[in-house]
Amino acid sequence: MEIIRIQGGHRLSGKVQIRGAKNAALPLMVSAMLTEEHLILDNLPYLADIQTMTALLNSHGVQVNRSKPSSADDRRVSLNAERISNTTAEYDLVRKMRASILVLGPLLAREGSARVSLPGGCAIGTRPVDIHLSGLSQLGAEITLVDGYVEAKASSGLRGASLSLPFPSVGATENLMMAGVLADGLTVIKNAAREPEVVDLSNCLIKMGAYIQGVGTSELKIEGRKSLHGASHSVIPDRVEAGTYAIAAAITSGNVELLGVFSEHLEAPLKMLEQAGVDTHITPRGIEISASKRILASDIATNTYPGFPTDLQAQAMALMTIAEGPSVITETIFENRFMHVPELIRLGADINIKGPTAIVRGVKGLRGAPLMATDLRASSSLVIAGLAAEGETTVSRVHHIDRGYERIEESLSVLGAIIVRESV
Ligand code: UD1
Repeated sequence: MEIIRIQGGHRLSGKVQIRGAKNAALPLMVSAMLTEEHLILDNLPYLADIQTMTALLNSHGVQVNRSKPSSADDRRVSLNAERISNTTAEYDLVRKMRASILVLGPLLAREGSARVSLPGGCAIGTRPVDIHLSGLSQLGAEITLVDGYVEAKASSGLRGASLSLPFPSVGATENLMMAGVLADGLTVIKNAAREPEVVDLSNCLIKMGAYIQGVGTSELKIEGRKSLHGASHSVIPDRVEAGTYAIAAAITSGNVELLGVFSEHLEAPLKMLEQAGVDTHITPRGIEISASKRILASDIATNTYPGFPTDLQAQAMALMTIAEGPSVITETIFENRFMHVPELIRLGADINIKGPTAIVRGVKGLRGAPLMATDLRASSSLVIAGLAAEGETTVSRVHHIDRGYERIEESLSVLGAIIVRESV
């Protein structure tokens, strides 16, 4: 087992390169299933979830090759789904990563049938897939649930339809978009998700020959094509990774430049930091974050894009634990996404949960303690709190962090944190 050990109280300073976005890369990899030709993806991050997606695609017969596998800097991957050899996504792979459900739409569109395990329970709530399934059935798929698997058939192909999503689910929008680009006729997705990762997928699909109108809005019009062709696309920078390092800089009264980030994707997190008294400014290469005064309490409510991202809620809460005054943090996207709270309390934070709201009363300082990571973003919030805590903090179950951060301890060490990974 690996743990991360942190000696807190060191100010971060320097530059950090932001990697390609995990949540954009995963659906982009899946989109390779929509064509018999090569899809080349650049700026792919090295993450456990990317390996899981590679294994899943391999299990369907998709070839996934790093173009320079021996070079640590190689971020280009070539995917080829000339032949799909298997339309079942097994439980063993799907349970590791919920985004596996994204193969459902492309398999149905391309092969007319798919059998995909239900993702099952998840640390941050029940996370059903009803919106994915009801959209696909409106596109003409016959869907049954058998022994924990979604069995879907569209023997005479998918047909375009007008869909109105009950909630702008990111995954459902991506799944339905990938089904719609090969369906017969016009598909309209109303109340579609507008997250930058959905836009990135749309842009790549358009390069592959898809017709999609309304990219970045909540109404997508998709005219199905008989087939798509190969393309080359570079993954957008990870706004969650960037936001995490920005908050890490703020909590240590640091000065950090985030390189290669798109500031327009981070409007709500930057606004929160400014309200907290942190200086943020756009530089020619990214965004500079600089904090010199005590953090001011700031209320936060998560929302769909362009609102404050749920994937930065735990990190923002870590920041508010040492703020001057009380803050109210409301989670509106996921139920049960406060798994980090008991761990932050172990460091001396003062937090009370009432339903979807956490009331955080800022304390003067945190004290290091052994902590346990429970899910991906919760674990990065524990690392952030550990950077500010006096003394030593250890975070166990770091495999959660590796799903979404590329060697987080190395990036933070370069910025001046005293942090190591150890096998125990
Ligand atoms: C994606 C992101 C995740 C992020 C989330 C919200 C990826 C790989 N993951 O997850 O990091 O936290 O968006 O920005 O991109 N829901 C239903 N029924 C459905 C689908 C969703 O009720 O069929 C609910 C979920 O339970 C959740 C909410 O809708 O409460 C948001 O889920 P969704 O937008 O689908 O998130 P994901 O695509 O799973």
